[in-house]
Amino acid sequence: MSGQPQRLADRRVFLSRAMAAVGAVVVAPLARTAHAVTPVGSNDVIKVALIGCGGRGTGAAMQALQADPGVQMWAMADAFPDCIESSLAELNKGPHTARVQVAPERRFSGFDGATRACQSGVQVAILAAPPFFRPQHLAAAVEANLHVFCEKPMFVDGHGASQVIEAVKNARTRSLNMVSGFCWRRSAPERETFRRIADGAIGEVVAMHSDYLSSPLGVQVRKPEWSDMEFQIRNWQHMVWLSGDFVMEQAVHSLDKINWAFGNEPPMRCTAVGGRAVREDIPERGDVYDHYAVVYEWPNDRRATLMWRQYPNCFNENVDTLMGTRGRAFVNGWNGTHRLTGPAAWHYPASAPKPDMYQTEHDELFKAIRSGPRIDDGDWMVQSCRLGLMGRMAAYTGQAVTWKDVLENRENLSPPLVAMDAAPPVASIRRPGKKATA
Ligand SMILES: NC(=O)c1ccc[n+]([C@@H]2O[C@H](COP(=O)([O-])OP(=O)(O)OC[C@H]3O[C@@H](n4cnc5c(N)ncnc54)[C@H](O)[C@@H]3O)[C@@H](O)[C@H]2O)c1
Repeated sequence: MSGQPQRLADRRVFLSRAMAAVGAVVVAPLARTAHAVTPVGSNDVIKVALIGCGGRGTGAAMQALQADPGVQMWAMADAFPDCIESSLAELNKGPHTARVQVAPERRFSGFDGATRACQSGVQVAILAAPPFFRPQHLAAAVEANLHVFCEKPMFVDGHGASQVIEAVKNARTRSLNMVSGFCWRRSAPERETFRRIADGAIGEVVAMHSDYLSSPLGVQVRKPEWSDMEFQIRNWQHMVWLSGDFVMEQAVHSLDKINWAFGNEPPMRCTAVGGRAVREDIPERGDVYDHYAVVYEWPNDRRATLMWRQYPNCFNENVDTLMGTRGRAFVNGWNGTHRLTGPAAWHYPASAPKPDMYQTEHDELFKAIRSGPRIDDGDWMVQSCRLGLMGRMAAYTGQAVTWKDVLENRENLSPPLVAMDAAPPVASIRRPGKKATA
């Protein structure tokens, strides 16, 4: 082997090992600054704000309550008051109602609700609104010195990526915990499998293929009293400017595992196809694609491919297969199969513990808040989202996209004004072959 490939390989091994514990990247506390966060004592109450009170946010709030007996739900924010009330009703059916203390004056609706919730005397923010809003919500949470649970994806465009990178740095300066919603990183079987891969159990990873075959998400049928903006926000998953399209919103879980396997090494190039094969042509279905196939390339002919789609009434699975220079790996998170073949053959034992990964996210966050060490998922969560952005850029334009193109992307999908009575973007299905960056 020539010197250069060896150096690349060494660097990959180094990166892989450095990332071996990823999912729980723990970092020593930084020096105290003017923004230093008040330490949380072992018996102190920890007040939490939930921002985005839908399905995932409500689930995350329940997991936060379950994680630590000192957690109190203190504030809730949502674009719509009815979503706050229905989430609160769910929390009040759970086993921790005594610690659900969201007084009416701490239920913040509207687009400024997130900032007001962050400033309501809480120590932690759960960020689970549509992804378009995440960069501004993350910035508001960090500015208020809050520890953060941040759902994926963290941004929908290059503009949002820059904001999130700033917020991640800012959180680091303030020694705030930053736990991402990339849930597979906190699944015990995935952690053990990817740890072994990072330790070289299958040699150097030279190829990976991820299938994410699923069914369409539901839609909210338009109500006459909704403005155009409300209609789009109620159907956010199907609007590119709000969700980032499904290569960022859903397939990003698979891309995160690709990023994990490749040790956070950025791909040099990406090509992709995508489109709408069977999505109904109705306004509720917005402008997102229903299928993507994406190829990522690294030096020395290493490749990862993604096949993602949402078709109704079809076969579904979520599987990752990896080929290494000394063996292979097979991961099916949905049916619980995790195995390595080759000289270091292994499988995750059926009898081994498989704690709920969503619960583990919060168990680890609140443990870190109480007693450290600090968790900082910031860098790799940004990079996993950038893989999604790269795939979307390649699919929408039909061009080969380089990592430099991704780093230089400053696209901003926001409409000029985000207000309930303002005009949202006109849904437009992207056609490759045209000169567009989106
Ligand atoms: N990690 C996972 O497995 C997983 C699973 C599901 C969803 N998610 C992510 O969680 C997030 C929420 O998804 P969901 O399924 O709960 O969606 P949802 O539609 O059920 O909930 C989103 C909520 O955010 C509210 N909202 C809209 N704009 C807002 C704003 N500006 N400020 C505050 N709230 C606002 C909506 O009204 C809604 O109540 C998404 O980013 C999604 O990708 C992650």
